[in-house]
Amino acid sequence: MNKRMRHSLADRCMHWGNALLWLLLFFSGAGLLQGGLAPFGDGYTAAVRKLAGGGSGLLRLHIILGCVWMGIFSLYIALNAKSAASFLREIFSVRPGDLIWLRRKPAIMLLGEHRAAALGFETKLPPQGFYNMGQKAFGMLSVTAGVTLVATGLIMATGFAPPGFAGWCVTIHYIACGLTLAGLLVHLYMTLAVPEERPGLKSMFSGSVPEDYAKHHHANWE
Ligand code: HEM
Repeated sequence: MNKRMRHSLADRCMHWGNALLWLLLFFSGAGLLQGGLAPFGDGYTAAVRKLAGGGSGLLRLHIILGCVWMGIFSLYIALNAKSAASFLREIFSVRPGDLIWLRRKPAIMLLGEHRAAALGFETKLPPQGFYNMGQKAFGMLSVTAGVTLVATGLIMATGFAPPGFAGWCVTIHYIACGLTLAGLLVHLYMTLAVPEERPGLKSMFSGSVPEDYAKHHHANWE
């Protein structure tokens, strides 16, 4: 079976490093919240704080993880500027047909192709490039929210900002995290639970996908 290279080793390391750090940051950050704001309840908050040696230990750990996250990104960009630039160009480019794809795909996913067609939904999807429009939307979201999380996190961690501005940073930090989490749930569903996307999942380990998968799912991938 002919294979096509999809993700270089550096890209795969970047993706899994980012995924691991994002999840560690999410679960450590959730432990910083108390009362009505605590997403997993006060029991979780108390348990994570105990593990980290108290609230200030957990905050220190969260900041260190944030610095490691920034370090991974910086190293990747420094060593792979061309790949990073082409990734950004790809996810931020919306081509003719992409918005139609984004409108039609959810009905197909929710109802199945045959039922969607029977109910009068258009089920022919415009051909997609290296990433389909759903992947690009998540890419745009995770990059924009990632930069926002780092910027607001740095402002809060350094403590130099005036209280009013720092308060806004806290709110924006939570919103950026919540939006990424919402996108991530869809990302996890698409990559882990949809059988036809299995070659994409395998490619995040092996690097390549079968040629016929590439032709069928990413016909405009040059
Ligand atoms: C931990 C579980 C995760 C799994 C199993 C997973 C899986 C994957 C796979 C298989 C791809 C490649 C899709 C393809 O090339 O066709 C991918 C791409 C990507 N992942 Fe993840 N991922 C995970 C976590 C994350 C996290 C936490 C983020 C960011 C917050 C993230 C951001 C991205 C981005 C931006 C892409 C490129 C665009 C896209 O394919 O949507 N991933 N992921």
